[in-house]
Amino acid sequence: VPTTRDPGGRLRAGGVDLLGIALDPRYGTPAYVYDLGGMTSEARALEAAFEGAPHLVAYAVKANSAGPVLRALAAEGCGADVVSGAELELALLCGIHPERIVFSGVAKLDPELDLAISRGQAGIGAIQLESIEEIPRVEARATAVGRIARVSARVNPGVERDMLGTHAHIATGHDEAKFGIPKEDIGLALDELRRTTHVQLVGFTSHVGSQFTSTDAYESAARSLFDIVRSVRAEHGRALTFIDTGGGFGIDYGEGCIPRPADFVSVARAGQRAAGLDDLALYVEPGRSLVGAHGVLLATTVQAKRTRSGESRRWLMIDAGLNDLLRPALYQARHRIVGLLAHGEDLAPWRVVGPVCESADDFGEHVLPSTPPHAVAILDAGAYGYTMASRYNGRPLPAEVFVRDGRVVTARRRAPAMEWVADRNIE
Ligand code: LLP
Repeated sequence: VPTTRDPGGRLRAGGVDLLGIALDPRYGTPAYVYDLGGMTSEARALEAAFEGAPHLVAYAVKANSAGPVLRALAAEGCGADVVSGAELELALLCGIHPERIVFSGVAKLDPELDLAISRGQAGIGAIQLESIEEIPRVEARATAVGRIARVSARVNPGVERDMLGTHAHIATGHDEAKFGIPKEDIGLALDELRRTTHVQLVGFTSHVGSQFTSTDAYESAARSLFDIVRSVRAEHGRALTFIDTGGGFGIDYGEGCIPRPADFVSVARAGQRAAGLDDLALYVEPGRSLVGAHGVLLATTVQAKRTRSGESRRWLMIDAGLNDLLRPALYQARHRIVGLLAHGEDLAPWRVVGPVCESADDFGEHVLPSTPPHAVAILDAGAYGYTMASRYNGRPLPAEVFVRDGRVVTARRRAPAMEWVADRNIE
């Protein structure tokens, strides 16, 4: 965990005192704090794993789409994997070159396709086809725009759901998932592509799931992708420039994750070499692993609650809820929670819950000081935290504070609660 404690026991991230941020009236809580330096180091370590071989780290913008994060990763050479026209525009604004952007998603809108085809000198790097039906749609838009659209075929390798070994909601590479073209249908997709005049196949892609804590499923999906590329290359490979093995590299939420992002790249590179495809660039699409461990969500204790009769129960009620961090409610995910001051000896188990009127607004049981801590940090909240936040229950979106090398570099304040009131007061 990249948070540390100073000699006085106060929790820090990126060299910045977190209690100072929680108590600062400009930010307050709930507030996400991100260490841009930590994210930069992750990107560097991953870039190094390619050892100079042609590649692209297409950062999955959906994990954390804040401008300072995108700019920090772009500065390390990352491209982007986007899933909407808005994410595409943001990536461009943050300095990511159109050539270094791939566009995934099962139901891209025509205006989004137009954007992808018309940006830059020759459109973005690739529109990732997720169905055969998408091919004539891209052909129609490219013809209308008057350009050749570069595409890659996202293959669904049909890995056994059990083999994916991750939460059902974040497993995508099995045969019941809506994502990608089933590997058995790739021949038909290639027939359809042959009928186009404004679509050029430049890559093959797969992304089979998220939060893998072993490289096995990733390796087997990559091998299946490489087999397909090898078998179709002679006939369809003239314009191929890349193979994209997707994201999904896990992080340690406290239950362990031995492989580092570089290890996933190593197994993919080994498979690529074994398949004799190392003249093609290797693309990966990591989201979580670049940013997840380098963000915390700060929350202030509102009050404690305990039962007086019957079974003894105690809850710690904090001002952050499932609207700020949805992962525990949606995936039964567990995030570690620690006090912003040193814990001392007198500890007790607390059920940490938020203010939202949902039983699922529950961050699980955590051992914390028995005198309720003033404020806590929910760890490993840098990925799929703010990007999945909502204003449910009339709660404003949380603040965001960006730190690097011991200082706050920029921040986004929380909207005043009255903004929601004005917004919803539709006449
Ligand atoms: N590429 C594609 C096509 C994706 O759909 C995703 C994530 C990624 C790359 C990045 O995956 P990563 O490296 O972050 O695992 N909200 C969930 C995760 C959903 C992932 C959706 N797709 C969570 O909080 O665990």
